[in-house]
Amino acid sequence: MIPWQTLGEAHTPDGTRITLRQRGHEFLLLADGRSLMPSTITGSEQALAAVGCRQLTGQPHARVLIGGLGLGFTARAALDLLPPDAALVIAELVPEVHAWNQQFVGHLAGQPLTDPRTQVAIGDALAIIRADTDGFDAILLDVDNGPAEFAAHGNDALYGRAGLAAIRQHLRPAGVLAVWSAWEDHRFARRLAAAGFAVTLERVRGHGRRGARHLIYRAVPRR
Ligand SMILES: C[S@@+](CC[C@H](N)C(=O)[O-])C[C@H]1O[C@@H](n2cnc3c(N)ncnc32)[C@H](O)[C@@H]1O
Repeated sequence: MIPWQTLGEAHTPDGTRITLRQRGHEFLLLADGRSLMPSTITGSEQALAAVGCRQLTGQPHARVLIGGLGLGFTARAALDLLPPDAALVIAELVPEVHAWNQQFVGHLAGQPLTDPRTQVAIGDALAIIRADTDGFDAILLDVDNGPAEFAAHGNDALYGRAGLAAIRQHLRPAGVLAVWSAWEDHRFARRLAAAGFAVTLERVRGHGRRGARHLIYRAVPRR
């Protein structure tokens, strides 16, 4: 058995240790030693892009935000769906994750960062959404393992009342919020509804037809 090798270590601003490991062709991103994103189970991360962006294939000048970068699979899937004049903003909290994508793992998802439509914004996804002035047609969130903080303390702000209100405010008309989750969270669904979203839950496979079941909350502002 090939042993895991640590390629890099970094910390979120509030101290969570983020590590990139490699074993042969496999890569793994960890948060405080717990799996955050493996390179071998990526189906639901790609499905997140499909659920959030499938309505944008023919839309001129679509703008999409992904939080965060991870190993780039959601970004690649979004780029494959979006038209040539689209813009993709990837909000990533940890600058080293960006650097690791450039140095070690960009090939895994077909180099999404070299696509001219891609722009990486280093910082907290919610702060980047709040600072934006043009609005997004889709906001795709996969910064934790579900709508509760995991990768960084403080991420709960994204999923609470104020965070959801800010997201709603920065979605364009007919915009879509899609949130990846490893579990069903009824309270999160109720908070989405209270924030003025119509919510559907999509069940997707982690890997092929047999992998673990993951969930995607698809939320559209009620008008
Ligand atoms: C589960 S991984 C994303 C996996 C990604 N969907 C993919 O396809 O590889 C979570 C990523 O979100 C980043 N992150 C965590 N909290 C964040 C925040 N508040 N804002 C932006 N990025 C964040 C982490 O550093 C990590 O790169």
